[in-house]
Amino acid sequence: MSNRTERFLWGAATSAFQIEGHIKNDMTKWEALGKLKQNGNNPSYNNAANHWLTWEKDFEILKELNVNAYRFSIEWARIEPKPGSYNKQAVKQYSAMIDRLIELNIEPVLTLHHFTHPVWFHQKSPWHKKESVERYVRYVSYILPYLEGRVRYFITFNEPLVWALAAYADAKFPPGKKSFDLMMQALYHLLQAHGKVYDIIKSRNDRAEVGVAKNFIVFKPFCIWNPADFAVASIAHNFFNMMILNAFEKNRLSFRLPFVLNFEKTIDLKDKIDFWGVNYYYRTFTRFKFDVNAPMQLEFKHKSGEGLSEMGWENYSAGLFKAVKWAASTGKTVFVTENGLATEDDKKRISYLRNHLNSVHKALDSGLNLKGYFYWSFLDNYEWLIGTKVRFGLVGVDYTQEYRRTLRGSGRFYAEFIRNIQTKNI
Ligand code: BGC
Repeated sequence: MSNRTERFLWGAATSAFQIEGHIKNDMTKWEALGKLKQNGNNPSYNNAANHWLTWEKDFEILKELNVNAYRFSIEWARIEPKPGSYNKQAVKQYSAMIDRLIELNIEPVLTLHHFTHPVWFHQKSPWHKKESVERYVRYVSYILPYLEGRVRYFITFNEPLVWALAAYADAKFPPGKKSFDLMMQALYHLLQAHGKVYDIIKSRNDRAEVGVAKNFIVFKPFCIWNPADFAVASIAHNFFNMMILNAFEKNRLSFRLPFVLNFEKTIDLKDKIDFWGVNYYYRTFTRFKFDVNAPMQLEFKHKSGEGLSEMGWENYSAGLFKAVKWAASTGKTVFVTENGLATEDDKKRISYLRNHLNSVHKALDSGLNLKGYFYWSFLDNYEWLIGTKVRFGLVGVDYTQEYRRTLRGSGRFYAEFIRNIQTKNI
């Protein structure tokens, strides 16, 4: 295994629900309940990119990208459709997928939880309740023996804070509650569950590497001469980018913001992480407004010259370097586990990739402990709350033509980039 893994990982990333299709989980239930009809959107899942049926062919295309690693997730709802009752067929297919990746000399980087749950989970033990921790531990303990010896890199959770905010602050994800207290409780349990699963994975295989994929945002004051805008940027940075990193450092999850949030609790996390996954997409500008309901505002502006994505986000490649630096300041290894552009114009994706890969080089030249980069996404996929109308893929999916795949110019660009770099032995 060592030769296979001790190289810089150049990869692409996906998540199970966003590409697989043929699944019923909390999100499809949410859609059926009409809860996704918000902000003018009414996304329909429609089996996403149908990958559950076409994974073998998809992996042939993945190989054409010259990647030596692939980040993907397994779907809890598929594995444990009823509490404590498991679907052997699903486990068998995931196992076959891992075997095939290894045959193709592609390192599997496995996410155990990427935003979705079995429907029963929210009924029995949503994340704001402490029983959630044991439910997750039970699911992971079940699946681990089927993965061992072949999977070295585990990501316990994708973006725990983003998920907690979506579910308990915006209330757009199930269970759809609006309460900062519940949000912090849920986050606390997610992190607790990480700590427990970390111990379990390591006790079975001390060569396994276990991390969390964390989203980072660059917050910049809208008016650099306005101290209130500065204050908002600093609060947002400390909360969104640093709070979880600090919890691992200090064995304490805490955040105080007068009249909004007051949470402080010890948590057993010290050194229970081998790497940080950096998911980085954008910079946003912070403003203070004299508005009791929303004093802190975030806006996307086209200030860097790199444009806005079709998500409305500002492309700001220098931010990737900053995010890697924040994560590396913990002393842990860092992988960029997501970075990508939603666009119909593939030329823009190429220049986005070029700019962000320059940031990767800058991080390596500066001696930061960065060990991999994964473009989001390998395939066009189902985007949360939006559906299939935005295109993140290096490989396009034609949803009107039986999910036909097309390797985009950006995919060829990335393949060529990896080929060149590997001949230079980086
Ligand atoms: C998530 C992905 C998502 C991407 C683009 C990340 O925060 O992990 O699942 O598709 O952002 O929105």
